[in-house]
Amino acid sequence: MNIDGVPYRTVWLDGSTVKLIDQPLLPHTFAIHDAPTPAATADAIRTMVVRGAGAIGATGAFGIAQAALLARDADFHAEVAQAASLLAATRPTAQNLFYGIRAVMHAIEAQGDDLSAARQAAVAAAQEVADDDAACCEAIGRHGAPLLEDGMGVGTHCNAGWLAFVDWGSALSPIYAAHRGGTRLHVWVDETRPRSQGARLTAFELGQEGVPHSVIADNSMGAWMRRGQVQAVIVGSDRIAANGDVANKIGTYAVATMAAANGIPFYVAAPTTTIDPDCPHGDDIPIEERGEDEVAWTWGWSDEGRFLRVRTTPAHSRCRNLAFDVTPAALVRGILTEHGLVPASPEGMARVMRRPGPPQG
Ligand code: MRU
Repeated sequence: MNIDGVPYRTVWLDGSTVKLIDQPLLPHTFAIHDAPTPAATADAIRTMVVRGAGAIGATGAFGIAQAALLARDADFHAEVAQAASLLAATRPTAQNLFYGIRAVMHAIEAQGDDLSAARQAAVAAAQEVADDDAACCEAIGRHGAPLLEDGMGVGTHCNAGWLAFVDWGSALSPIYAAHRGGTRLHVWVDETRPRSQGARLTAFELGQEGVPHSVIADNSMGAWMRRGQVQAVIVGSDRIAANGDVANKIGTYAVATMAAANGIPFYVAAPTTTIDPDCPHGDDIPIEERGEDEVAWTWGWSDEGRFLRVRTTPAHSRCRNLAFDVTPAALVRGILTEHGLVPASPEGMARVMRRPGPPQG
């Protein structure tokens, strides 16, 4: 995707350095963050310099490749395994992170004690994870664009655009494809407290792409639906259970419930690397709870161009901060994957789910 006309990916490997678009600085500053070691790469995921399921999946994959490139011969397998544990412990919910790590670990293990082959295989496998993510998202756009008709209002929550993946995005990819094809759309962007991924990142992306949009307060999507402004909702997902239940950014369940109450189709867009074959039900998905400061404080740039962090809650009030919620499959009209629209059901998921490693079946 283009930023001020320059094509970028969200994450890439340059030598043994993982390069990332620094997302907490957006939309006010565009900068590239360098992670020179696996520990720095893990830190970038944990602190959300990079976020979004596909983007952290590719970052995890590049982090293992980086570990393989930097590991000493004498301790190669132990050092790579240590990096894998570090990267896997960063964030618990997005399935793509575990997919990306496992894919590169499989490639390394397949080379046995040939360390030069293992290093080469690791870099190739990580690049394959990133390229696959971009290709899947491009296909999601192709399959999803025909669902969007001229003049539609489309609701979305959080950021499931190209910043959340390696390129294109999941929920925003059909919007970009339809917009580029001449379909006139208006996107209703939930601000997505507490970290405001909608207000900061989705609005930034849509602006770069020239898609008309309005940022709205999280608690107003239902009102815009009742006013007849929203004809479809598309969101992304961090993990989809084998029964079609969907974990996504906190607040998604409320949007899905309001869509159902208003008879509006609610689509979830995700590459099949987001489906967890080992997670039978949405209640089994590990849900991250983050620090209370994210709820108590907000941040942004003052008119004078100063970065400010301000507290909005009383100093003595405790906060809770669930990062994700689960939307039951029954509320989902379909899952838009790289293979097209699939029912959010055990049968639908079984048809498309995949595991990392050598081709199956
Ligand atoms: O906490 P984040 O920003 O990593 O969470 C990302 C999301 O939950 C997004 O909603 C997105 O839809 C799923 S990731 C593509």
